[in-house]
Amino acid sequence: MLSSSLEKYADYLRELWACQSSLGKAKLIAMIKKTLLTGVKPTGMPHIGNYLGAIRPALQLSHQPQYQALLFIADYHSLTHVHRAEELRSMTYEVAASWLACGLNPDQSLFYRQSDIPEIFELSWILSCFSPKGLLNRAHAYKAKLQENQEAGRSDPDYGVNMGLFTYPLLMAADILMFSADQVPVGEDQVQHLEIARDIAQKFNNNYGPLLKVPEFLVQKDSKLVPGLDGRKMSKSYGNHIPLFLPAPKLRKLVMKIKTDSSPPEAPKDPNDSLIFSLFKEFASMEETEALAAHYRRGISWGEAKEALFQAMDKVLAEPRRHYEELMADTQTMDCLLEQGAQRARAIARPQLDELRRAIGLGAMV
Ligand code: TRP
Repeated sequence: MLSSSLEKYADYLRELWACQSSLGKAKLIAMIKKTLLTGVKPTGMPHIGNYLGAIRPALQLSHQPQYQALLFIADYHSLTHVHRAEELRSMTYEVAASWLACGLNPDQSLFYRQSDIPEIFELSWILSCFSPKGLLNRAHAYKAKLQENQEAGRSDPDYGVNMGLFTYPLLMAADILMFSADQVPVGEDQVQHLEIARDIAQKFNNNYGPLLKVPEFLVQKDSKLVPGLDGRKMSKSYGNHIPLFLPAPKLRKLVMKIKTDSSPPEAPKDPNDSLIFSLFKEFASMEETEALAAHYRRGISWGEAKEALFQAMDKVLAEPRRHYEELMADTQTMDCLLEQGAQRARAIARPQLDELRRAIGLGAMV
């Protein structure tokens, strides 16, 4: 009974799929699947903390069948602080290559550069006209700058603040609302931006009717827990990070630098109180993790533990590293993929923007 109704449903879907006349494929997908969207600011080659806290969980979500994923490179967001052309371009490629090497499937997910979708910037202007200035005054990144200036005793509270930094949350809202995202996986530091996007969408909808989908956020809490070489949260700014695609000998060298205590090799050790172990279990199978835990309890030298960690990391990362190097040696392949992604994304953005333009009273009377 159940299987026959499922079959009927499948037939119905196939029929819908075949008949593309009035419904675009993108619209059809949007009806069946939830839209998952997230942006990545180009920051150069990600580190292990970015991989475990953001890239891997986002890709795992994007592979789930109930989602249509949109993953994009937020290159114009970087322009708020990266003002050297070479740097912006290479950081963009490094991030794109990293996501592809880690398993992003550009046929399945939409993968594009934000800057290739001009519709986003038009929407950003529209949204700015529905955003009270006070809402942006309260944004964390801007407030942090104000505080920095105050602490430095500067007379201009806005010293070093460009309008891109100030309106950063508006562009991010446009990224999200342009594609009617249902769910947005982000790190905890981005939650306020999501709240701003929701606020603006609601203000717009109160005025024109429910045209913008109010997005939900999926907070990836884990990003805080990945420790760096010195035990603090792994971060480029602390200089305690392990770049994701270091050549194996360099990776080994960095792993050997992880901070440990001076307990002797034969002393039993608590795996749950070990930086090395907490990284190991992210890369190893359950059996390998249990075996290493047992070895810890019997007594293991830090050198051996580090070697085990390096081996586990290298096993997982060797293939993506090769893929990364291949992509970086031929950036045209990425250009091509990103261009195709942009075309597919614009096919969704354009009609959505046209609808909004009509709703707010632009263009000829219909
Ligand atoms: N601001 C995000 C960050 O720094 C990147 C970003 C830009 C983003 N636009 C987005 C994330 C839209 C999610 C949705 O990490």
